[in-house]
Amino acid sequence: MSGHHGVRSFVMPTCQKYNDAMRMPEQIETERLVLRKPRMDDAYAIFAGWTQDTEVTRYLTWHPHQRIEQTKQFLQKCLSAWEYETRFPYVITLKGSDEIIGMIDPRIEGPKMGIGYGAARAHWGKGYVAEATRAIIEWAFLQPSIYRVYATTDVENLASRRVLEKVGMQCEGILRKCIIHPNISDVPRDSYIYAIVK
Ligand SMILES: CC(C)(COP(=O)(O)OP(=O)(O)OC[C@H]1O[C@@H](n2cnc3c(N)ncnc32)[C@H](O)[C@@H]1OP(=O)(O)O)[C@@H](O)C(=O)NCCC(=O)NCCS
Repeated sequence: MSGHHGVRSFVMPTCQKYNDAMRMPEQIETERLVLRKPRMDDAYAIFAGWTQDTEVTRYLTWHPHQRIEQTKQFLQKCLSAWEYETRFPYVITLKGSDEIIGMIDPRIEGPKMGIGYGAARAHWGKGYVAEATRAIIEWAFLQPSIYRVYATTDVENLASRRVLEKVGMQCEGILRKCIIHPNISDVPRDSYIYAIVK
């Protein structure tokens, strides 16, 4: 038989895998917090806490959830990310009570790590997200291969900018018309890029 048969099967990786065998711990403790890998039964607390909250989601890349099922789907994606080792989203819980107050979402991209986070409004302003972020940076810089931890934030997201400054990141510049924050506008927004290096 001759002729061109084309591609028989083409298996697309579901996610790009940058880091061979680099996995984050399933639990990280700080003075007041335990960051842990989420479980499906966290959905109710996460939905009640912030995924439905228009103020918390204002500067995020997704619309607030209308139904718990959306938060369950979101959690499924978080668990797949752990499985594929692309991102390692943690729930931030209060030490002693396991109460979920927010999430922090590190992803390892070769020599650098990107971070995103959010917290329930009832727990804003207590330094929890800064504490969680410091712990992630500390873990990152214990890895010989990671040299840079960065985050981006909407130019108007003052609380987030303050978190990044408190953890020692420097603002490196502005990414113009870079990220769509659909709860504000369909036009991509200017974002600051912050980073700390080893
Ligand atoms: C950004 C966010 C995670 C901060 O969480 P948090 O636990 O309140 O953070 P911290 O308490 O560690 O620090 C917040 C800092 O911002 C300051 N802050 C809060 N609102 C502010 C405002 N409007 N203007 C200036 N500073 C502000 C606080 O005073 C605090 O600084 P301080 O410790 O010097 O007083 C929280 O506001 C949040 O969930 N926002 C919605 C989700 C989001 O935007 N995530 C980031 C996407 S890049």
